[in-house]
Amino acid sequence: MIKIRMPLFITRHVLLALILGGVAGIGFMVFLTEFDHFTSTEAFCTNCHSMELVAEPYRESAHFRPASGVRASCGDCHVSEGVFAATWDHFIGGKDLYNQIFGPDYDDPVIAKLHMPEAAFSAREWFKKRNSATCKRCHVKEAIFGTRPDTVEIHKQDAKDKSCIECHYNLVHAKVPAESVFKRDEWNRMVEQEFGLKRGAADKLLEK
Ligand code: HEC
Ligand code: HEC
Ligand code: HEC
Ligand code: HEC
Repeated sequence: MIKIRMPLFITRHVLLALILGGVAGIGFMVFLTEFDHFTSTEAFCTNCHSMELVAEPYRESAHFRPASGVRASCGDCHVSEGVFAATWDHFIGGKDLYNQIFGPDYDDPVIAKLHMPEAAFSAREWFKKRNSATCKRCHVKEAIFGTRPDTVEIHKQDAKDKSCIECHYNLVHAKVPAESVFKRDEWNRMVEQEFGLKRGAADKLLEK
């Protein structure tokens, strides 16, 4: 029989500490997993995020009601894979909380719409930096046959050095133009018209 001999430095106290540490570690991982799980749900995100701009268009989108029933939730797209990465995203998302409390009043639909382009650009940048990793959880580029005859070719040729988000945006939320062609002036006039405000009112609201 093989007898396992403990190295001398492992005293009973060290052993106990290792075991307790292990148990606490597992407990903490379970807590993080549950925390990430809860804070990735639509119910959690829409506590804050506007219905008209974010959630309602999402519910009309192919990602909420696909023929196959494979639904993408807020967290599927916006929260990275893995407990540590996901927790980090939520930690960073903590600035959402800061902005919610100390920032402009995003519950006001006019304010939300005025600030939306920057939020959209920032979100697109997030996807680009991660090479659209969350998209690829579900989509395998080589397996996308699409509804147009040239989709396979486009993904083989044009998409070679590009990330999904560079070509596919405005998927599930109110539409915002690409940052390269975005004009603040046009956007403000559009918001004023939509909400029946006086010309110039949007610019004043943004200064605050
Ligand atoms: C406590 C309120 C609150 C919660 C909960 C919340 N957010 Fe936010 N979020 C905000 C505020 C405020 C902003 C900043 C305002 C803005 O830019 O529209 C923001 C900004 C964003 C942005 C803009 C892009 C960026 O990177 O800055 C994204 C994307 C986003 N949130 C996604 C989510 C998702 C997904 C969830 C759920 C996992 C979530 N938020 C939960 C309040 C919240
Ligand atoms: C299919 C992936 C996908 C899903 C599902 C998704 N988003 Fe997004 N989200 C995006 C992309 C891509 C952007 C970048 C802006 C754009 O092009 O629409 C974005 C942008 C945002 C923004 C920045 C402001 C804006 O509207 O552009 C917020 C806030 C946000 N998402 C919250 C949410 C919340 C809350 C949910 C769930 C109700 C959700 N997202 C579900 C992909 C997704
Ligand atoms: C949870 C899985 C999941 C995630 C995450 C996801 N998708 Fe999808 N996507 C789907 C499903 C399901 C459909 C519906 C069509 C289908 O069944 O093929 C779809 C449809 C699409 C379509 C065609 C329909 C349309 O709205 O234009 C595009 C383009 C697309 N996804 C791109 C993306 C991009 C880009 C991302 C990341 C920002 C993303 N998807 C994230 C599952 C997902
Ligand atoms: C160079 C730009 C480009 C890149 C990068 C790209 N696509 Fe596409 N994709 C297209 C074009 C163009 C189509 C043709 C159909 C269309 O016009 O909607 C398409 C079609 C699709 C479709 C089928 C839509 C339908 O209903 O027929 C899906 C799903 C899709 N792409 C997902 C992705 C995903 C996921 C990635 C990243 C792995 C990606 N694409 C990268 C340009 C691109």
